[in-house]
Amino acid sequence: MSSTAAKPRSSSTIRACTVSRDVQSFDLLIEDMEAILGESWGDLTFATALQYFDQPEAKTLEFLTIALDDEDEANMAQVQAIIQRARAENVQVILIAEELKPIVLHRLLRLGAADFVPYPLPDGALREAIERLQAPVAPFGPGGAPAGTGPGKTGTVLAVHPLAGGAGATTFAVNLAWELASLGEEGKPLSVCLLDLDLQTGSVSTYLDLARSEKVYEMLSNTAMMDRDFFFSTLQTFHEKLKVLTSAADMLPLDLITPDDIERIIALARANFDFVVIDMPGTVIQWTETVLNAAEHYYAMMELDMRSAQNALRLVRALKAEGLAVDKLRYVLNRAPRFTDLSGKSRARRMAESLDISFALQLPDGTAQVTQANDHGLPLAEVAAKNPLLKEIRKFAQTLDEARKQQARAAA
Ligand SMILES: Nc1ncnc2c1ncn2[C@@H]1O[C@H](COP(=O)(O)OP(=O)(O)OP(=O)(O)O)[C@@H](O)[C@H]1O
Ligand SMILES: [Mg+2]
Repeated sequence: MSSTAAKPRSSSTIRACTVSRDVQSFDLLIEDMEAILGESWGDLTFATALQYFDQPEAKTLEFLTIALDDEDEANMAQVQAIIQRARAENVQVILIAEELKPIVLHRLLRLGAADFVPYPLPDGALREAIERLQAPVAPFGPGGAPAGTGPGKTGTVLAVHPLAGGAGATTFAVNLAWELASLGEEGKPLSVCLLDLDLQTGSVSTYLDLARSEKVYEMLSNTAMMDRDFFFSTLQTFHEKLKVLTSAADMLPLDLITPDDIERIIALARANFDFVVIDMPGTVIQWTETVLNAAEHYYAMMELDMRSAQNALRLVRALKAEGLAVDKLRYVLNRAPRFTDLSGKSRARRMAESLDISFALQLPDGTAQVTQANDHGLPLAEVAAKNPLLKEIRKFAQTLDEARKQQARAAA
């Protein structure tokens, strides 16, 4: 046997190979491979894997299991080359990762590895990953729901984007989602899903007192494998009415997820809920467009100050420069002046005129009660039933519900 060939366990055809620094350090992998594949697998090192692809035996390869631990970070260039070559040859890749940094793992998944399983291998995990490789991937049409993954709803998508830090986007998103979830008729409540896509500083989990789960990262980095069950298993339920995807436990880079990932997540959410409320980060990123396209309304949350005004101009300019539709933008003025505050009112009017926009919604200051509710992890409705901010958000939720009913009647 030449040093470049995988060592088959016998003369059988090789369907799969392990690739590792030294397979002996992954003895559970050897056991599982033997149990699943019998004799029809071999083992390769990082150095021999690429050469193996040049040999005729490689034609029967179906997949590689690349096993990595924290000592392998120096070998990443080789590993990346192996994944790319495997994908070019239509060979699937499963990563077996022990203590690998999430960032490294994510980069490898991005390159085309189909799945990853932690090491030590949980019982049955490798077999399941292999079965997933063989299952057909659900088709995701643009904006369409993945086939067979939900009750076929077409949820209304509403996104909220703060134009300045602390403008009140998350407060609006959380309370709007809760008010929508509290609407609907007896026995027929509206189903609502709140997605926190503010990956780094997302505070939905704080405002609803939900744990940030590790599963979110797993889902975000593996959306190609995501089906309805996987998606629902990452959602948390708030007070039996509202489903929430919190941001992940770790601060994640914003470009960790791609437009395709976001499209899949939104497609699944739309297929399963009447309303999907998305809390966005205050930056324009590569998947802002994806959310903008999916959204019925894209709320730009601002305050009556120069920061918000200048950022509103910047946002419009950035979207237009990318050729994106700005017609879905709806400007929301938070902490808006009261009716009796005439000079405040005229300042708001002048701001709208100078920006050539109009405010779709003006939300009043809700006093310290708002921050208290957020800090207690409860929607305003649960702690301050008469709060002026709550009243406006509730009215707005009713308008949205009414609009949805009208659309449904028109479509019927
Ligand atoms: N209308 C309001 N009345 C009183 N307090 C408010 C109001 N809107 C927001 N707040 C308070 O302002 C603070 C910032 O709000 P929030 O976190 O919703 O802003 P954000 O735009 O999501 O900020 P970030 O840029 O961090 O995402 C919170 O403490 C919140 O309780
Ligand atoms: Mg926020």
